[in-house]
Amino acid sequence: MNTDGLTQLDYERIGPVGKVFKKAVTDPLVNFVLPSGFIRWVLRITKSEMAEASWSDPGGWKSMVLSYRDDMPPQIADRFLIKLGSMPIALRNRRKLCVEIMSRMIRDRAGQRTNIVCLGAGPGMIVLDAMDRSEHKDCHAYLMDLNPDSFEFGRDLAKSKELDARVQFIHGNVKDYRTLCPAQPHIVKMIGILEYLPDAIVSDIVKAISEVMPPGGQLIANSLTRRHGTDRFFRRVFDLHMIHRSADCVRKLLADSGIATDHVFTEPLGVYDVLVCRKN
Ligand SMILES: C[S@@+](CC[C@H](N)C(=O)[O-])C[C@H]1O[C@@H](n2cnc3c(N)ncnc32)[C@H](O)[C@@H]1O
Repeated sequence: MNTDGLTQLDYERIGPVGKVFKKAVTDPLVNFVLPSGFIRWVLRITKSEMAEASWSDPGGWKSMVLSYRDDMPPQIADRFLIKLGSMPIALRNRRKLCVEIMSRMIRDRAGQRTNIVCLGAGPGMIVLDAMDRSEHKDCHAYLMDLNPDSFEFGRDLAKSKELDARVQFIHGNVKDYRTLCPAQPHIVKMIGILEYLPDAIVSDIVKAISEVMPPGGQLIANSLTRRHGTDRFFRRVFDLHMIHRSADCVRKLLADSGIATDHVFTEPLGVYDVLVCRKN
């Protein structure tokens, strides 16, 4: 895959003053100083959509879709959470990077039947954007998620891009990958899922994928570092407990199951690394 320009996409950044303010003021405030009950009360009375989505399904697809939004949210609390929060900024950066990487992976398979398998897909926004951008007519997506509530949104999105005939939503736990996925995967997306799975499950799933993937098959995954600075806030306000792993740790987990990492790209906030991998 050609990697030119991947570090120079139109990323969002936090300037030097913003970084100091965040470290000295907002992170300590939301992590330690303000009582969690008070923060939850503020989010409730300001009708934060983000808080509502996170409370009903911590780390779920709705909070992801809200984080991805480009326009200004109507609720004041959401303007702070979504537009200024380091995690949603990093998520938008990760999305941009992944759409570009995946569209290049798809283009590299021009003229060949291509199956994309996405684990923990939600409505599949990244895969659908990448398929749309790559214009590969024999590219098909298998989008797997534990929560089928996102599928209607995903089907509408696929329809709007005229991709619905080539997209299949699969309801199930990625732990049951072996019995759930009907297709041989040429490209596998594990973005936004590893942070919810312990090492043993990740190893088992990657092993299952590696067994059926053809040599040269490609996989994209991410790490999550603590550089967002608000893990304690997520735990106490949203009951969101994510597993943080370095890129090297993810690389080793994948390597143990026969998947080699060719490139690692870090989005500008340093919160996410995206690993571009291949089955040998
Ligand atoms: C944070 S969202 C990420 C969505 C999408 N991958 C993206 O990057 O835009 C995580 C998704 O993983 C799903 N998920 C979490 N654990 C899962 C599991 N064990 N099996 C299948 N899906 C799972 C959740 O339901 C949710 O839709």
